[in-house]
Amino acid sequence: MAEMRAPRFEGKVALVTGGNGGIGLAAARAFAREGARVMIAARRRSQGDEAVESIRAAGGEAAFVETDVSDRDSVREMVRSCLGTFGRLDVAYNNAGITGHVTTEIADADEAMFDQVMAINVRGVWLSMKYEIPAILEAGGGAIVNCSSYAGLRGGPRSSAYYASKHAVLGMTKSVALEYAARGIRVNAVCPGLVMTDLIANNFAGAEEKLAMLTARIPMQRTGEPDEVADAVLWLASDESRLVTGIAMPIDGGTQV
Ligand SMILES: NC(=O)c1ccc[n+]([C@@H]2O[C@H](COP(=O)([O-])OP(=O)(O)OC[C@H]3O[C@@H](n4cnc5c(N)ncnc54)[C@H](O)[C@@H]3O)[C@@H](O)[C@H]2O)c1
Repeated sequence: MAEMRAPRFEGKVALVTGGNGGIGLAAARAFAREGARVMIAARRRSQGDEAVESIRAAGGEAAFVETDVSDRDSVREMVRSCLGTFGRLDVAYNNAGITGHVTTEIADADEAMFDQVMAINVRGVWLSMKYEIPAILEAGGGAIVNCSSYAGLRGGPRSSAYYASKHAVLGMTKSVALEYAARGIRVNAVCPGLVMTDLIANNFAGAEEKLAMLTARIPMQRTGEPDEVADAVLWLASDESRLVTGIAMPIDGGTQV
């Protein structure tokens, strides 16, 4: 008989931003399956309540806090609410992000879109880490995983704001990893390739041929599933990766190779 493995996050509290859909929800569910109590922080309450229900129905423990990661007071409240509900914070997956308009060359792109992408993808991750870290230190150390993208590792036409924002996520990840390496907090990033979520479905609505062309360029010849990113997030958040900090891990079917 296979040896029983202890749940990797028993007794721990995990916070997931944008945890009410897509990759974030897959990660929230996976943390709960591995014994964590999970705080889901995202904008849409109805979707958040559904996410909490789905975790409870599977025997896990979760709560929702309405959060806009681009807003300082909201992010402070997110961490406060996590501590108020569960008493501690051990691991965080800073996943919330948007793409902006992905079909516009820079000369035609809109500044407001640039500001919004930066506010959510860059300031959102920065603020999340800023307020999570004191709570994680208080818990005796832990781990942060930030969501970058294959767009953080290379260039790509017609979405310069998104590509810039995901490069910035890696800059922050590496810098904050160095700041806290000696104090028990590891900080890493995942760089997913194309993963089938609402974000991608909406971006490619009416452009299915383009999606098929991009998929054909992926060495593994397929897009990813949210659970496949969640598995990597859990590894980076768990003690199994205890010697790993400051890395950008591609999860992309070979796209970076
Ligand atoms: N799907 C892909 O192919 C892919 C590839 C690489 C990276 N990513 C990244 O993965 C992350 C998750 O994307 P997804 O594909 O699951 O998309 P999604 O749109 O399904 O999920 C994004 C989540 O972020 C939340 N969010 C957006 N703005 C927010 C804000 N201001 N405050 C709080 N929450 C906010 C949304 O509510 C949603 O829950 C994003 O950072 C995205 O850039 C996705």
